[in-house]
Amino acid sequence: MSHNTFGKLFRVTTFGESHGPAIGCVIDGCPPLIPLTEADIQAELDRRRPGQSRFVSQRREPDTVRILSGVFQDERMKQQVTTGTPIALLIENVDARAKDYGDIRDKFRPGHADYTYWAKYGVRDYRGGGRQSARETASRVAAGAVAAKVLASLYKNVRIRGALIQVGTEKIDRKRWNWNEIARNPFFCPDAKSAAQWEVYLDGVRKRGSSVGAAVEVVAEGIPAGLGAPIYGKLDADIASALMSINAVKGVEIGAGFATAAMSGEDNADEMRKGARGKPKFLSNHAGGILGGISTGQPIVARFAVKPTSSILTPRRTIDTSGHDTEIATKGRHDPCVGIRAVPVGEAMLALVLADHALRHRAQMGGR
Ligand SMILES: Cc1cc2nc3c(=O)[nH]c(=O)nc-3n(C[C@H](O)[C@H](O)[C@H](O)COP(=O)(O)O)c2cc1C
Repeated sequence: MSHNTFGKLFRVTTFGESHGPAIGCVIDGCPPLIPLTEADIQAELDRRRPGQSRFVSQRREPDTVRILSGVFQDERMKQQVTTGTPIALLIENVDARAKDYGDIRDKFRPGHADYTYWAKYGVRDYRGGGRQSARETASRVAAGAVAAKVLASLYKNVRIRGALIQVGTEKIDRKRWNWNEIARNPFFCPDAKSAAQWEVYLDGVRKRGSSVGAAVEVVAEGIPAGLGAPIYGKLDADIASALMSINAVKGVEIGAGFATAAMSGEDNADEMRKGARGKPKFLSNHAGGILGGISTGQPIVARFAVKPTSSILTPRRTIDTSGHDTEIATKGRHDPCVGIRAVPVGEAMLALVLADHALRHRAQMGGR
């Protein structure tokens, strides 16, 4: 398979399958002298790891990352830094249970990628879904942690955060939004009351052997005006593509997104006033921090919809690899709501796009 590389200057190539010996990535184009340790990356991986609550897959993967190359420290240096050479990151798979997947060897799960991989390649690693498994997203989160360090080295006070804003039919109340709540519940939910209600709601979904979709919001603060390159390197287009590339994502919006269809020009326009240090002050942010494909200096805001997990216990009609009608009920360890663990993945993809664009901006504009 080709097309496993992401980014133009900050380039990430991921490799590995769900039930292979390991997954990982190679990052090429990372600038030198950026402080980087395994602990920096591990902290982010720990947020995406399965098995941390009853609302996610019970697969027990420690997701311990090893940096194989691209960093250096000797006795004269205070800390380990990147060298500007390829950074290889390795995460071993230690809890793969291929026997859980015997049933899907010859049958296609409706809603999953079993049929399309088979139709395209004529061969399919069905163990845990092979390369189509969201296990691959651990590599993205690892690379995203490095991208975040690159951004921090370029811009003061940059912060990229994500939140789960809807689970199935249950939405948060945005008036109760508190970023501090994210770390206090198993959902990355910024609304404590909704998080408590989701426990009951998702227990019901899980016990029925069913699944639900979700919506995630990601926000990047501290990104200056100027990132993004019209016409075919627009920042919003690249963010949309990156978020859409996450497994199970079926919709992406930037800023007010689909709500702009019902707005008037007066309501939608983000009015401007004279701000501090010669910079504008925007009175709203319907644009989600991007105009003409270029960042405005406001927070960059994107949302994405994640479909319900397709591997469910309820029998569904399907066909087998010989083309016969049959039924399938998927056993194995699956996330009842994959949107939960998609939150750190969304943050990572946003960090990767922004780091790539920051380097592209510097390449064209120098210090400007
Ligand atoms: C964090 C995460 C975990 C996932 N876990 C599962 C899972 O346990 N079972 C499943 O059927 N799909 C899971 N998915 C979704 C599938 O990987 C995805 O639906 C499949 O690859 C087909 O691709 P598509 O939905 O993007 O078309 C997960 C997705 C994410 C983002």
